[in-house]
Amino acid sequence: MPKKFQKPSGMHDVFGSQYEYFEKIREVVVRNAKIYGFKGIETPIIEDTEVFTRGVGQHTDIVEKEMYTFKTKGGESVSLRPEGTAPIVRAYIEHGLYTKPQPVKLFYFAPFFRYERPQAGRYRQFWQFGFEAIGKGNSIVDAQIITVTYNILKELGIEGVIVEINNMGDEKCREDYKKALKKYLKKETASLCSDCKKRMTKNPLRVLDCKKCIKIKAGAPQIVDYICKSCRDDFRLVLEFLGELGIPYDLNPFLVRGLDYYSGTVCEFFVPRKGEENLLAIGGGGRYDGLSALLGDEQRPATGVAVGVERTASLMRENGVINEKERPQVFIAQLGDLAKKKALKIFEELKKEGVLVAESFGQDSLKGQMNRANTLGAQITLIIGKEEAVEDRLILRDMDSGEQEKIRTNEIVKEVKKRIKKKK
Ligand code: HAM
Repeated sequence: MPKKFQKPSGMHDVFGSQYEYFEKIREVVVRNAKIYGFKGIETPIIEDTEVFTRGVGQHTDIVEKEMYTFKTKGGESVSLRPEGTAPIVRAYIEHGLYTKPQPVKLFYFAPFFRYERPQAGRYRQFWQFGFEAIGKGNSIVDAQIITVTYNILKELGIEGVIVEINNMGDEKCREDYKKALKKYLKKETASLCSDCKKRMTKNPLRVLDCKKCIKIKAGAPQIVDYICKSCRDDFRLVLEFLGELGIPYDLNPFLVRGLDYYSGTVCEFFVPRKGEENLLAIGGGGRYDGLSALLGDEQRPATGVAVGVERTASLMRENGVINEKERPQVFIAQLGDLAKKKALKIFEELKKEGVLVAESFGQDSLKGQMNRANTLGAQITLIIGKEEAVEDRLILRDMDSGEQEKIRTNEIVKEVKKRIKKKK
């Protein structure tokens, strides 16, 4: 038996209607990016592993457990990118983009890789769209990034989006908070899960992300009581801007995000799902003023958000955003070489006029093509047989009534448009 190949575990092929959702998301992202002044960027799929160990953090789940890391033939350690922010900051530094007017505003729509346990909505290769503003950070840039993301989700027909938001303080106030948190966790050690027992000393903030230790989190000190005046003022302004722009948000004092580069404002986008108790996290981000320094440059204020494309597409599907069964207005069927040539030309002419037209030129049998027209639910089928091709006419069949008549080729566009109008 020849071997049957399958896609790698946890990965998926994007095709059919999912491809259409991807296209729609990309189109809306690109259009909004232009409106808000973000330019596109594509970085390589692999990076020097240190971009992530230093950038995302050695003691994060992403780096400790989820990276695809391997040695090249030259002996360098590289990793498939698990996220886009650290590579973009690497590119910003490498190309001296700090010499351009700041902030440099960039967007992407790209695949990422995390070796996670495959489950619904969680893949080992997944897509994100994201926005990053690097080089100048303030509350208005934070609010704008949240707004553009919120507007895109709304335009894509995703309802009930809630932005959870918190402020993690700067390096100094976060250190004070970490001390208080460690002290609290020490008292609770016996109840922590085995992972959190390790996290407690290395990276106590990660305990706040742990799904198993939710009860312990509830009694923990809150970061908002430890942030300095300047962080508090900054946060207040972000909330005021969001309020002004009508973006619904919830304060979540324990939101710390799973990546180490954050400071200041952090946010996560949640959506309620039909028949499910838990909200679905579809995106997240925040300020990462210290990331450029972690990658060897000086500190440069920055902020960004990324959204999962698969999760967005599946919500769009649940909401029926794209009518997958959209009927083509016209189907073109043909028989013979001359008919095929004419059919191609008419197809282009109808498309130019904005008619929704479908074909199956790869099929030679007329019966097969008529079946296809039926399956698609075409309103009208144009049939060009050998005889009609020579006569320079074609058969117009109304698929609802079954009536058909011969029409001259040069009158067909006008005739089709007239009939479509009537059907509307
Ligand atoms: P993140 O929260 O790790 O943030 O990922 C953002 C979104 O990507 C998630 O909310 C989720 O929708 C999607 N996502 C993550 N992992 C998977 C997976 N295994 N399968 C499917 N979807 C997934 C970041 O990646 C940051 N770089 C965001 C950011 C941009 N921060 C600043 N700028």
